[in-house]
Amino acid sequence: MSSTDATPETGTSDDVLIIHGGTPLEGEVTVRGAKNLVSKAMVAALLGTSPSVLRSVPAIRDVEVVTGLLRVHGVDVELDGDTLYMDPTSVESAGVEEINVHAGTSRIPILLCGPLLHRLGRAFIPDLGGCNIGGRPIDFHLDALRKFGAVVDKDADGTHLSAPNGLHGIRYELEFPSVGATEQVLLTAVMAKGTTELRNAAIEPEIIDLICILQKMGAIIKVHTNRVIEIVGVDELKGYRHRALPDRIEAASWASAALATEGSVFVRGAQQTDMMTFLNVFRSIGGAYEVDDDPTEGGIRFWHPGTALKPVAIETDVHPGLMTDWQQPLVVALTQADGLSIMHETVYENRFGYTSELRRMGANIELYSDCLGGTPCRWGRRNFLHSAVIAGPSKLHAADLQIPDLRAGFSHLIAAMAAEGTSRVYGVDRYITRGYENFEAKLLGLGAKIERPSTKIA
Ligand code: EPU
Repeated sequence: MSSTDATPETGTSDDVLIIHGGTPLEGEVTVRGAKNLVSKAMVAALLGTSPSVLRSVPAIRDVEVVTGLLRVHGVDVELDGDTLYMDPTSVESAGVEEINVHAGTSRIPILLCGPLLHRLGRAFIPDLGGCNIGGRPIDFHLDALRKFGAVVDKDADGTHLSAPNGLHGIRYELEFPSVGATEQVLLTAVMAKGTTELRNAAIEPEIIDLICILQKMGAIIKVHTNRVIEIVGVDELKGYRHRALPDRIEAASWASAALATEGSVFVRGAQQTDMMTFLNVFRSIGGAYEVDDDPTEGGIRFWHPGTALKPVAIETDVHPGLMTDWQQPLVVALTQADGLSIMHETVYENRFGYTSELRRMGANIELYSDCLGGTPCRWGRRNFLHSAVIAGPSKLHAADLQIPDLRAGFSHLIAAMAAEGTSRVYGVDRYITRGYENFEAKLLGLGAKIERPSTKIA
């Protein structure tokens, strides 16, 4: 299965946001459930023999894509406000053509393999989409599925899977603690015959939340120390009721926007426990924050204290390290720090493409293939430009920008808001809406001076 990642296109006249920069963002935004949990929780609903209810679901395109995939498989999906009802009692096979409507839109379809094999004995998976930030192979997924007993056949339409002898528990060690491959093993092992032991598993908070959901459904999953997860297969799972954990990537994006624009943003819903590593970096740079841990109304206020920002040398890593998805907005903030910062990206080999646009805006960023962080990683030996040196502070000026992917796109928005003058950012509908709910309304609420070509700002 190839990863048909989206490629940047020349901007179209209507998919553009005009940003008059130089205004600090001030106010409040609310973050709802994490994109990278909600989509997987929706897949988990397929495993149940009764309906599931998921709360705090954001209005983003990835949710629409998974809704479409569930519906073609006979799952009744209804959204009421931010609560999603999913009834999988009439799950049925879907045709290649109706599934392929969703080809190239997201990486989530690969996670339907285990649940569909359990429910229907076969599965068809379209070519995947997702952000263009590296090769993003799915070798761990397919290798694990084959060991569970799946037969995998790739043809021109996509990938066909069957399980002629059922699925059986495995002992498996991941080469790298992949989020998606860990989820693949979890979603397959919960109903496989016997026990599965997964070593070198990812333990991101979104994965622990998925484990909580599966446990509510009746699964037996033990999370041991040292990245070992043990799953005892059961014959049947029921539906669940769950509130998705908040989106810590979106929360960090708004925090970085507050810092880069010298503003102050209260992110309602942001949770300290899942953001500890980010908060340490934010404080090291010189950003200020205050945690309000009220269970319903709480969040974290992030602001620029008015003093010079400090450079840092940091690297991305799997949890509990600094999330790779926090990297891009932080780099924009680091263009305003006083001195040389280093960002070593160890999760993806190609996640600095967006910095060429920042350089056109006046940022001083150089890329290196050496591992400039404290930990040699697998990309250094293979000559990928995966370390960035950021020399600040730089006065950013406006530019016309083409968004290359979701997180890079949000960092372009931040840069345009921090820059003097009027920027045009192309590709916002195509990319930003995949993972940021109501981002335009939120920006307007924070005082950003933005407009569409057809509208005038008040
Ligand atoms: N990898 C392999 N083989 C595999 C799977 C992964 O070599 O079969 C490698 C990848 O190429 C990458 C590394 O392992 O170098 C980590 O990839 P991982 O599988 O952890 O990523 P993912 O599951 O595809 C999810 C998020 C990403 C997030 C990463 C890391 C979803 C839908 N996506 O991707 O989120 O960056 O985990 O935390 O959950 C985003 O939200 O913008 C986003 C890209």
